[in-house]
Amino acid sequence: MKKRDRLVRYSAPERINHWIVALCFVFAALSGLGFFFPSFNWLMHVLGTPQLARILHPFVGVVMFAAFLIMFLRYWRQNLINREDIIWAKNIHKIVRNEEVGDTGKYNFGQKCVFWAAIISLVMLLVSGIVIWRPYFAGAFSIPLIRAALVVHSVSAVALIIVIMVHIYAALWVKGTITAMVEGWVPAAWAKKHHPRWYREQRQRQTQQEKRP
Ligand code: HEM
Repeated sequence: MKKRDRLVRYSAPERINHWIVALCFVFAALSGLGFFFPSFNWLMHVLGTPQLARILHPFVGVVMFAAFLIMFLRYWRQNLINREDIIWAKNIHKIVRNEEVGDTGKYNFGQKCVFWAAIISLVMLLVSGIVIWRPYFAGAFSIPLIRAALVVHSVSAVALIIVIMVHIYAALWVKGTITAMVEGWVPAAWAKKHHPRWYREQRQRQTQQEKRP
């Protein structure tokens, strides 16, 4: 594909940041499911042994939170909800038929929902995770609080797992999306179809750069 037919979507540091989050998510989610459901106990071996998984799970969670915080600070502005998102949400039946609606910017309403759901569940996982973290912090909290934190931790973990399953499905289902996070670029036709406002902004920027002496 010619250079003109591609648009840069993510730099290398942005992609490394995203894949650190994704890797931590896989380890934390699998080991967490292993602790929670007896039928999934075999998943506790994902980080070596069950004992090691128990020690590493909270540290991996903290790394995931810290790495996602960098993504949050980078992208929160582009994920603010605007009028175009309402049009997108009202026409969700067209979206599932792979039609496009509204003048979408860098992210569509679905992506924005994933973004906000991820930060909310990660904050809840971090706070509840600290309360239940033995042997370091749990001793400082009462038993009823630890019980409540266990519920919050489990519910937000299941919510995040469902949200990320939707995110992965969308990333693979919308043809041309995955190269954005693997190689950093997207086909110009993809951008024009799915993110028309972002496409125009990028083209404008390119033209301005070409005009510069
Ligand atoms: C494990 C497999 C994963 C895959 C295959 C995947 C794939 C992708 C792809 C292709 C994009 C680019 C979408 C675009 O620019 O239009 C993306 C963006 C993004 N991903 Fe993932 N991802 C994964 C896991 C995660 C996890 C675990 C999180 C967070 C907990 C996450 C959070 C994000 C965020 C915040 C963006 C930027 C979009 C936005 O800000 O709305 N991803 N991902």
